[in-house]
Amino acid sequence: MANETRTILVTGATGGIGTAVCRQLAHSGHSLVLAARNEAKLESLSHELAGTGDRPVWLPLDMTSDQSIRQFGEQLTSRDIVLDGVVLMPPQAHSTNDPMPTGEAWRALFQNCFIGPLEVLKTAIGRMNPDPVNGRRAKIVIISGISSAQVLGHYATSNVLRCAWIGEAKTLAFALGARGIHVNTLSLGGTLSPWYREAIETRAAAAGVTFEQRLAEETANVPLGKYGEPEEVAIAVEGLLSRFSDHMSGLNIMHDGGFTRSY
Ligand SMILES: NC(=O)c1ccc[n+]([C@@H]2O[C@H](COP(=O)([O-])OP(=O)(O)OC[C@H]3O[C@@H](n4cnc5c(N)ncnc54)[C@H](OP(=O)(O)O)[C@@H]3O)[C@@H](O)[C@H]2O)c1
Repeated sequence: MANETRTILVTGATGGIGTAVCRQLAHSGHSLVLAARNEAKLESLSHELAGTGDRPVWLPLDMTSDQSIRQFGEQLTSRDIVLDGVVLMPPQAHSTNDPMPTGEAWRALFQNCFIGPLEVLKTAIGRMNPDPVNGRRAKIVIISGISSAQVLGHYATSNVLRCAWIGEAKTLAFALGARGIHVNTLSLGGTLSPWYREAIETRAAAAGVTFEQRLAEETANVPLGKYGEPEEVAIAVEGLLSRFSDHMSGLNIMHDGGFTRSY
C-alpha cells in the first residue's frame, strides 16, 4: 500500500517495540518525532534513522511528570510541528497478583500509566490539523495489552488500566471522528522485546530448560504457536496509520497470535 509522507509522533520510541515501529515508519518515508526519557538513546536512534531519510526530531518526555509533559508540548509548538499520527505507548504497569492495591499505589498507577499519557495524547491532538473533506485524516494508535479484553491472573492492575484505555479510546473516537481523527487500540499479547526475551531466559534458567524449550511451553496455548515480534507489531501499526483504517475508529484490535478467546 503506497503511503503519503506524514509526520508521526512515537512515544516509547527507544524501546523494543518503539524502535521497530520507528524503523518501519522511517523506511516508508514518514517524518518522525521520537519521544522517551533517555536522551542518549533518542539521539542514537535519530542518528540511525537519518540513514533512511530526514533525521527525526527527538524530544525528551517523561509521561509520569507534569513538568516534562508541559515542556514537551512547548517544544511541539515552538518547532511548529503538525502531527498526522500518534503512536502512544503508555508505561507498562508491573505484573502483580494483588487485586486490591493500596489507594496510594492506585493513585501512582493511574497517574503514571493513564493520566500522564492521556495528557501527552491531548497535547498531541492539539497539534493535529486534519482535513477529512480533502482526504487528510489523522490517526492515533494506542498500544495496549490483551488484558483489555480478558482478565489475566498475573496482571491485576493492568486488567483495570487497560480497560480504562479502551473506554477512553472509544470515547475519543466518538468525540473526534467528525474532525477526521481516528482512535484505535492495538492490544498486544506477549511480544519479544529484549526485556521480554530476558524474562523468558530467566524463567528458562529457573526451570533448568533452554530458552527454546521454555518458549515452546509458554506459547503452547497460543493458536499460532508463537509470541509476536516487534517487527510484526510495527507492520500492524503502520497499517493502522495508513489509508487501511480510513473507515475504522474506536476498535480494539488483538495482536496476540489468536490467544484471545472472546468474540
Ligand atoms: N512486550 C510485550 O510483551 C508487551 C505486551 C503488551 C503490551 N506492551 C506494551 O507495548 C509498549 C512497549 O513495550 P516494549 O516491550 O517495547 O517495552 P520497552 O522495551 O521497555 O520500551 C518502553 C519504552 O517506553 C519508554 N518509557 C518508559 N517509561 C516512560 C515514561 N515514564 N515516559 C516516557 N517514556 C517512557 C522507554 O524509554 P525510557 O526508559 O528512555 O523512557 C522505552 O522507549 C508498552 O506500552 C507496553 O505496555 C508490550
